[in-house]
Amino acid sequence: MVAGQPELAFLNEMPGELRTAFLPGPVLLLGAPGVGKGTQAKAIMAAWGIPQISTGDILREIRNRDLQSSVIADRLLREGKLHENDLARMAAGKLVSDALVNDMVAARLEEPDTVRGYILDGFPRTLVQADWLDAQLASSGNGLPVVAVSLRVNERQLLLRITGRRSCPTCKRIYNVYLKPPVADTVCDFDQTVLEQRADDTEAVFAERMRAYAEQTAPVLEHYRTLGRFAEVDGDATVEAVTESILAAVEHLRD
Ligand code: AP5
Ligand code: MG
Repeated sequence: MVAGQPELAFLNEMPGELRTAFLPGPVLLLGAPGVGKGTQAKAIMAAWGIPQISTGDILREIRNRDLQSSVIADRLLREGKLHENDLARMAAGKLVSDALVNDMVAARLEEPDTVRGYILDGFPRTLVQADWLDAQLASSGNGLPVVAVSLRVNERQLLLRITGRRSCPTCKRIYNVYLKPPVADTVCDFDQTVLEQRADDTEAVFAERMRAYAEQTAPVLEHYRTLGRFAEVDGDATVEAVTESILAAVEHLRD
């Protein structure tokens, strides 16, 4: 298991062969709160053997002082990079500072497991972050260019996904009490840990997160659409069907 990526435990459990012959490079998963970025990042990780980098997950690890699971969270906390103001913004459904998440991603991209590619889940979310990432990748030499996949789901369904979401603090698997319930009501199917609900998964904070998405992240989609290597995928299908669509879209964009 790679340090800071306990989710890679999934790789040991996935049936069938990894599709490792394919070189994915950097893949951006874009989309509104609850659209399925985390769920799909874990499936792509299992299919291609590349890590998920979720800025939201790293922020929660820092907030919870859950530093065992993330060397990056540990480092940023020791360097005093996270301020109370960022935590308050997160709780309210607003974006944290560009400088903080850019630092986070820069630190994570130094890890050797990103060499064949990685999935950025929830980053970039502003044009400042997108410009930073473009410049960072351009300066890092001859890697593959970014491909961006945007997931779409209607807002009514998103609200159900957000308010029904529960996750396992141990293995990070994601459930939904309405749409994808665990076998036993409140515990993880795989390790029987009691499932948790995110503090920002309320209807009121969801509305603020949607506002931030429309105002600050929607322009990021247009940025990547203009650059090309951009695909939109319907996220309102089974998890497996959405995964297949994303894998096919990225393979096509890399042709
Ligand atoms: P973050 O953690 O990234 O939250 P988000 O973008 O709001 O997205 P979510 O994690 O809520 O949803 P998801 O798309 O991952 O959906 P999931 O797969 O879990 O960010 C949190 C906060 O951190 C931000 O508000 C901000 O404050 C800060 N932050 C993070 N990144 C930042 C950045 N770059 N810049 C500034 N600030 C930043 O699925 C949701 C539910 O749906 C689950 O219950 C799941 O089981 C279910 N589901 C998924 N797929 C399906 C399906 N196909 N069918 C049925 N149910 C499904
Ligand atoms: Mg997520």
